[in-house]
Amino acid sequence: MTAKVIAISNYKGGVGKTTLTANLGALLAKNNNRVLLIDLDGQASLSLSFVDHELLNELTNQSCVRIFSYRFLGEEINYNNFVFDKFKLNNTINNKSKNNFLSLIPSSFYLTHIDSELSAELAGVNSEQIQFNFFKIHNLLKNFISPLKDNFDYILLDCPPNFNIISKNAFIASDYILIPVKPDHLSVYGVCNLIKYIDDIVKDYNKFLQNSKDKFNIISPKLAGIICTMVQIIKERPIEAMAAQMNRLTNLGPSLRKDNISPDLFKYNNGPYLFDNYMRENNNLFFRAPMTGIPVVGQQDNANPVLNKVKNDFNQILDELLDQIK
Ligand SMILES: Nc1ncnc2c1ncn2[C@@H]1O[C@H](COP(=O)(O)OP(=O)(O)OP(=O)(O)O)[C@@H](O)[C@H]1O
Ligand SMILES: [Mg+2]
Repeated sequence: MTAKVIAISNYKGGVGKTTLTANLGALLAKNNNRVLLIDLDGQASLSLSFVDHELLNELTNQSCVRIFSYRFLGEEINYNNFVFDKFKLNNTINNKSKNNFLSLIPSSFYLTHIDSELSAELAGVNSEQIQFNFFKIHNLLKNFISPLKDNFDYILLDCPPNFNIISKNAFIASDYILIPVKPDHLSVYGVCNLIKYIDDIVKDYNKFLQNSKDKFNIISPKLAGIICTMVQIIKERPIEAMAAQMNRLTNLGPSLRKDNISPDLFKYNNGPYLFDNYMRENNNLFFRAPMTGIPVVGQQDNANPVLNKVKNDFNQILDELLDQIK
């Protein structure tokens, strides 16, 4: 099987993108999958959820800066050196057969400078050169991932909280896009803009391709769905204010149709799929997990009933995700 590439993205900050990526990745690996996580955010939160700061510094030379920086272009990539899997979580997974393990391409703080470097590279003296540079810059991640796809079942891309060239690379490289949303008024409002932005990227890329002599394929990533995060629960139900926002998310179709969003982006004609299951808020568990190097789904504590609930939520979220992307 060739890997399914899933981008976890929302330009809004702090909505749980990284937490979701870390936990889905760990759970997929526990369930006998070969999983690669790519940390595309210069904040390096995903990397720091698995390795400590000192180790991350040692890994700078094998960070995803290498995918994007012109300083390294043309250098031959030894993928074995690139992909890192010597972290604590893998000791808790029975990975003797190597059929199930989690690997990481870490980020580095230098990644925050890359966008301006790449923007400069997009310029050209004539339309042919502009087109050539457009495809070269926007396919950096897709081309990098391509030879890795046979080695993994799932590749998860943790996107930065903005619309930069790196996020564009992620959408272009992905088969599916998963959107985590905190169900509050402003975050829900931003979802339509995000979907419209993704739709514009896909349309622009494919349109550009029509006039191009370059041999790239059209892209057609699909939304895997919208998943609510940090949901406050009382008596096993979302609090009223959040439930109202979640309800708004069930009905984005009409507004997206007004914006002429391509229906190809969705699995269902009536718009994006909203996950039935959601990530509940639990400050204690989620705050502590990155410090231990093991995401919540990999933690053991039989005396903590909330942990079991949160782990069970993730099992159900994963089932729903796999159903959407099969
Ligand atoms: N379900 C949750 N309950 C409580 N806290 C959470 C939950 N999910 C994530 N958090 C915490 O919220 C903060 C932001 O989460 P996270 O880093 O996953 O968001 P993000 O969308 O990746 O942020 P950024 O946009 O900065 O990349 C972190 O401190 C994380 O531990
Ligand atoms: Mg993040």
